[in-house]
Amino acid sequence: MSMTQGEPMAAPPYNYDPMSIALHWLTALLVVTQFLLAEFWEFFAKPTEHAMVVTHMSLGMILTGVYLLRLVWRGSAGRRLPAAGLGVLDRVAKATHHALYTLLGAELVLGFATRWTHNQALSFFGLLIPSPFGQISRQTGWLVGQAHDVVAWTIIVLAGCHAAAALLHHYVIRDGVLRRMLPFR
Ligand code: HEM
Ligand code: HEM
Repeated sequence: MSMTQGEPMAAPPYNYDPMSIALHWLTALLVVTQFLLAEFWEFFAKPTEHAMVVTHMSLGMILTGVYLLRLVWRGSAGRRLPAAGLGVLDRVAKATHHALYTLLGAELVLGFATRWTHNQALSFFGLLIPSPFGQISRQTGWLVGQAHDVVAWTIIVLAGCHAAAALLHHYVIRDGVLRRMLPFR
């Protein structure tokens, strides 16, 4: 049975469906991996750094597929659960989820754009995907790269607050909000 938003607090048997849970945790894992790769590649010697950049681009393209699949799934068969029932905090949580979806979408586009505005082909594990644009100025490339960096930090800070809220639900409020996103109960 699928539930819609606005119904009263989910009774304990209600979980997100396995597909939504899988897509959520795959997204979380990929986002954190992307961030760590990008923050640490400069500390490695050239060949390793290059491999990390290629991994970042390749996982970024996989994340793009996961993201699109997640949007389609959420908009169709995916189960949607009502908010936890904490008044104004429900709105904050919903706004955070919307912001995460929006920022992630923007970040993926900026990722492709970062590589292409640096006049380089994208690499999917070595398979080259050339830029559809003509020659782009250094300044434009720099600006797009900066935007990709700022949005990355914004996502990490927001997702950090989101994760902290989930832990607060679990250990302090002691409701079932974290458990309904867990693959086991
Ligand atoms: C949530 C997903 C992503 C996060 C958190 C992320 C994060 C970052 C960060 C923090 C940087 C370093 C920016 C700087 O220091 O100026 C970076 C660089 C980069 N990212 Fe991403 N990124 C993501 C997705 C993508 C995607 C989807 C692509 C492409 C398909 C991509 C391609 C690149 C490229 C080409 C660079 C520059 C690499 C270089 O300096 O040679 N990113 N990313
Ligand atoms: C350890 C880290 C994380 C934890 C503990 C966590 C936990 C949760 C929980 C418990 C929910 C369900 C909330 C509810 O039903 O009201 C949820 C939903 C959500 N999470 Fe996370 N999350 C984490 C990381 C992330 C990351 C990195 C992202 C994206 C960048 C993300 C994006 C979302 C979104 C968009 C939703 C809303 C799902 C929907 O209803 O469509 N989460 N998360």
